[in-house]
Amino acid sequence: MAAVGFNKKTVRDINLENKRVLMRADYNVPVKDGKISDDYRIKQSLETIRFILAKPGTRLVIMSHLGRPISPDDKQFSLKPVAQHLSQLLNKKVHFAANCIGDEAKAAIERLNEHEILLLENLRYHPEEEANDKVFAKALVDASGAQVFVQDGFGVVHRAHASTDAITKFLPAVSGLLLAREVKTIEKIMRDPAKPLVSVIGGAKISDKIEILNRMIDISDCVAVVGAMANNFLLANNIKLGNSLVEKNALAVTWQIMKRARDEEKKRKFSFLLPVDAVVSKRADGRLPTRIVDLEGDNIADIEAYPKIPKPSAYTVADDEAIMDIGPASAGLIAGALKMASTVFWNGTCGITETKGLAGAHDPFAHGTRTITEAMIGLSNRHAGRPFTLVGGGDTVSYVEQQGLIDDFSHVSTGGGASLELISGHKLPGIEALLDKHTA
Ligand code: 3PG
Repeated sequence: MAAVGFNKKTVRDINLENKRVLMRADYNVPVKDGKISDDYRIKQSLETIRFILAKPGTRLVIMSHLGRPISPDDKQFSLKPVAQHLSQLLNKKVHFAANCIGDEAKAAIERLNEHEILLLENLRYHPEEEANDKVFAKALVDASGAQVFVQDGFGVVHRAHASTDAITKFLPAVSGLLLAREVKTIEKIMRDPAKPLVSVIGGAKISDKIEILNRMIDISDCVAVVGAMANNFLLANNIKLGNSLVEKNALAVTWQIMKRARDEEKKRKFSFLLPVDAVVSKRADGRLPTRIVDLEGDNIADIEAYPKIPKPSAYTVADDEAIMDIGPASAGLIAGALKMASTVFWNGTCGITETKGLAGAHDPFAHGTRTITEAMIGLSNRHAGRPFTLVGGGDTVSYVEQQGLIDDFSHVSTGGGASLELISGHKLPGIEALLDKHTA
């Protein structure tokens, strides 16, 4: 895919020889009891690390945040397990400094030999990090003794923090290879996607995704809304939803989005797909029976009643039930659209994919998500030539990773909020602060 839209200098554009390099990564990964359960972000940073260390005489200091600690005593937010994990991935010792500034950091960094790496302790143990404090940024630079700053933490460049913004006032600041790849790929899809472009957008809250929905309606040939977010649209269409998750104070915006979509449908070849059926249950833990409700009343779901006329309950979510997944007819509709696509943008699973199956049932609320995944990347899409598939957003990425499917998608973004902001067309402060390509 041709590169567009990245006009910042990268590590390829500057001389790194014999330099001490300070790199910002986004190692905000899930850590439990010292074990990392999802290392995708760490793995994606390896290319830049290897690139820097391959240059003669380099020493590399990496910094990151982890979670949102209140104080340095919140030891569960220590980056030490990340240093150990990084060391395993690189098959190389990764030194660790228990503070990111001050004498302790300085002494540890001074002990570094050529081609060695050190990871600094969590930046957010210092409130000055999030306050974008210049004095703190200068302290980071002083402790590291670095001559170059490399920004490779794509997941955090939507934050104007000391390690993403203020620090660029003290060192020549360039992009790492991951950041450049993320931006080029996302911007290419936003500006010049191979058509047809099909977008599948889900998630819990519509208020988080208003801009993305609007932008995707403008540029896509088909937008399918799934997940709890779709409930808002169903409610706006006067469908009874029982106990389902709905964002009631976002109904006005739901109407606006739906109007925009329906107007597009009149203007050009565009379809806006909402679920026509749903998997419902009284509980999300998979311990109570599930059933399929035919939301549109087309008799599609009550095959077992055939040829009798289905009971009204076949069309209605009961007061004590909630929607947990899209139904098979909806999944089939979306899968059909996906099989025509040359580009797919996917953000948000169709149902509660985390619920594990009990007594033989297989992940009862993940069927919709599995069906659309198959349509995007599966064997059934092979003869059509697979589309370019972009996955963005934290939960969807976790799902793809847990299924072991990362390599089957064309690009799985490491950024949650950052990728959504970029897709919405915003300027991201951590990117804006880097040196422009044309500066001498
Ligand atoms: C993320 O996980 O989205 C980034 O690491 C940013 O984290 P934050 O939302 O705590 O700033």
